Amino acid sequence: MSMIRNSLLLAAVSTALSIPAQAGDVEVLHWWTSGGEAKAAAELKSSMQKKGHTWKDFAVAGGGGDAAMTVLKSRVVSGNAPAAAQIKGPSIQEWAREGVLANMDAVAKAEKWDSVLPKVIADGLKYKGNYVAAPVNVHRVNWLWANPEAFKKAGAKLPTTWDEFFVAAEALKKAGITPVAHGGQNWQDFTTFESVALGAGGAEFYRKALVQLDPGSLKSPTMLKVLETFKKVKGYTDKNAPGRDWNLATAMVIKGEAGMQLMGDWAKGEFIAAGKVPGKDFACVAAPGTAKSYTYNVDSFVLFKLKDAANQKAQQDLAVAIMGPEFQEVFNLNKGSIPVRLDMKLDKFDECAKLSAADFGASAKSGSLVPSIAHGMAVPSAVEGAIKDVVSQFWNDDKMTAAAAMDKLAAAAKAK
Ligand code: GAL
Repeated sequence: MSMIRNSLLLAAVSTALSIPAQAGDVEVLHWWTSGGEAKAAAELKSSMQKKGHTWKDFAVAGGGGDAAMTVLKSRVVSGNAPAAAQIKGPSIQEWAREGVLANMDAVAKAEKWDSVLPKVIADGLKYKGNYVAAPVNVHRVNWLWANPEAFKKAGAKLPTTWDEFFVAAEALKKAGITPVAHGGQNWQDFTTFESVALGAGGAEFYRKALVQLDPGSLKSPTMLKVLETFKKVKGYTDKNAPGRDWNLATAMVIKGEAGMQLMGDWAKGEFIAAGKVPGKDFACVAAPGTAKSYTYNVDSFVLFKLKDAANQKAQQDLAVAIMGPEFQEVFNLNKGSIPVRLDMKLDKFDECAKLSAADFGASAKSGSLVPSIAHGMAVPSAVEGAIKDVVSQFWNDDKMTAAAAMDKLAAAAKAK
């Protein structure tokens, strides 16, 4: 991103502190375009409109946000940043270093963010001690979504280990049902890969190999086993998986064409938007072997420095709204995630969300709460891109051995 610095300097803007109370425009970049995502995004839009501001939707389709990030970079380089953008994890720091983000400390202090946010999350939202991002939720990534009807037809049982997963997959296959709904895009491949790494390798291995990028763990018998298990999953996907969007894979489970999907709980947003009931029409269980662990993915928004005072006011209102209890409830009911605030009642939330909240707390205590790599929470974006590419190459190339993939993975982890 340093290549954009010069252009950014040209586009440098003031951060006026005295902000008159007037209506402004707020242009917000996000990638929430699937059924459940769009319903959640509409809640953000309406909360801004209620405050009299004009919402300018800057949606760039593409699950996981890769396309959105490319578009965002070119907009900022041309000196035309939106008011806010969905940015998370270490990318928050990368953008902050460019000097283009607004400081949110005034809002954060007034709204007491430090006392209502989990520390591990609050730390990631700060740059040099100041808040530069506002969080909307906590998504759990290590889930398995299943269609109970399909399982019944196949005489299969919901798996709790990877061995059981393959037994269930085999039974589903025999019953003429696609065992695993998958979308072959590299972030989706990695979403599956990291759940296998967590389940087959354990939280300690996951952290050492994929977060700390420890060479000895990246090249190890455990990694070999993880890669082999991951590749075995592919044998239970259908031939139309390459390029498929994640929500279309979820739709296969909703309709019973497929038995299960490994995906974060934005998938629940799709089931809910389709009128399905958890525990009856669909099941949410931790990905095999990961019941006591938790891969987190926190969506957050950064604000870009703007010149216009009314638009700055709209930005500040956006930050206040995002963290407000009312918004956190209604947004997350639609999105499939849980509120990021620790002081909220979950009465209106379903059993999947309640399990997520309980497991978040328990895994934080036991040391098995880990950031998602697939969703940009763990490693610098260059490393993330490089290791995702290797994992997808291995998934797609049936001639590549697990040992060769492991070597490439270790090399990619050194990408800067
Ligand atoms: C994730 C994002 C989620 C979800 C998903 C699919 O990276 O954090 O909010 O929408 O992508 O688009």
